[in-house]
Amino acid sequence: MSLAILGTGMAVPGRRVTNDDLAQVMDTSDAWIRERTGIGSRYLSTTENTSDLGTQAALNALKDAKIDPSTIDGILCATLTPDAMMPSTAALIQAKLGLKAQRCLAFDLNAACSGFLLALQTADALIQAGSAKRMLVIGAETLSKILDYSDRSTAVLFGDGAGCFVVEAAQGTQMTHFANTEGDLEETLITESLALNPELTNHPSEVPYLRMKGQAVFRFAVKAVEDALTQVCIKRGISVNDLDLIIPHQANARIIRHVADKMGLPIERFVMNLEEYGNTSSASIPIAYTHAKASGRLRPGMTMALVGFGAGLTWAATLIELKEDTTCY
Ligand SMILES: CC(C)(COP(=O)(O)OP(=O)(O)OC[C@H]1O[C@@H](n2cnc3c(N)ncnc32)[C@H](O)[C@@H]1OP(=O)(O)O)[C@@H](O)C(=O)NCCC(=O)NCCS
Repeated sequence: MSLAILGTGMAVPGRRVTNDDLAQVMDTSDAWIRERTGIGSRYLSTTENTSDLGTQAALNALKDAKIDPSTIDGILCATLTPDAMMPSTAALIQAKLGLKAQRCLAFDLNAACSGFLLALQTADALIQAGSAKRMLVIGAETLSKILDYSDRSTAVLFGDGAGCFVVEAAQGTQMTHFANTEGDLEETLITESLALNPELTNHPSEVPYLRMKGQAVFRFAVKAVEDALTQVCIKRGISVNDLDLIIPHQANARIIRHVADKMGLPIERFVMNLEEYGNTSSASIPIAYTHAKASGRLRPGMTMALVGFGAGLTWAATLIELKEDTTCY
């Protein structure tokens, strides 16, 4: 028995911010951002919080799955930007979906940009253990809350959004998981509270901001994606060449192209939609999956890998083999 994906959905805030829009408020340009990252725009929240985006993605996934929401008995939300320290964003989403009268486990987990894949693994384990039957696995972020718009090397990269899978134990797909962590004392990718000049940022100084050593993250990411793909394929007893489709965390087109080159895999096998959404951290993989599905890139019988990397440092992959006769993806 393995997990079947009954439906998927995504949501982004209403406000699309292009590179040219950013160039109005900081010293950057569309040409620089596109060349170094492949990003053309991102969606930034004005009023939506993480639970709002997570709820909308869940509603879209439930609609896609064509199931009665009252049959959901578990909600996991991967996020590094929760609405609050407590209650969990997953519990808020349960209430916003109107599901609070039913038995339902709900909690958040944080593995930064690898978070969605850790949540999917956790859901698989919880369902195999009999703790839940049908779950919402959500990755949701409002990274705009922790971006320092005076730091052009990080602020241009990230966007807000959410993605959701509805999963249950069933025939239809076979999943194999891999995850690893290398606790980082070098502060490669962290949030920290800084006393920023309020005249420049208009943010209170106690807000923790995202800080990153870009080139170190780039080197880590290329190694991590290759390692996760290789390890998950070894675990399943297949070759990376057997992968029909790879849905990587959407951080940077250059990272994805480097990996494709290094592993000798055609770039066409990699799904990329970061030009539109930027890096939405734990939301990026389910958003990219939902896009790939909507554009007809997923087919029964296909073997695909979802692969993520992020702060921690963490990296993870899930191999999904769709049966020839499945309608679950
Ligand atoms: C962030 C990143 C795009 C920076 O690209 P880079 O080639 O390493 O660029 P550098 O940091 O060396 O900066 C090069 C120059 O561009 C400038 N620069 C940085 N951000 C800029 C921006 N948004 N617009 C214009 N210029 C910028 C720098 O100030 C520097 O100028 P200098 O040469 O005059 O000092 C790249 O390192 C990267 O993508 N890293 C991985 C990040 C990532 O994926 N993080 C998420 C992980 S989940």
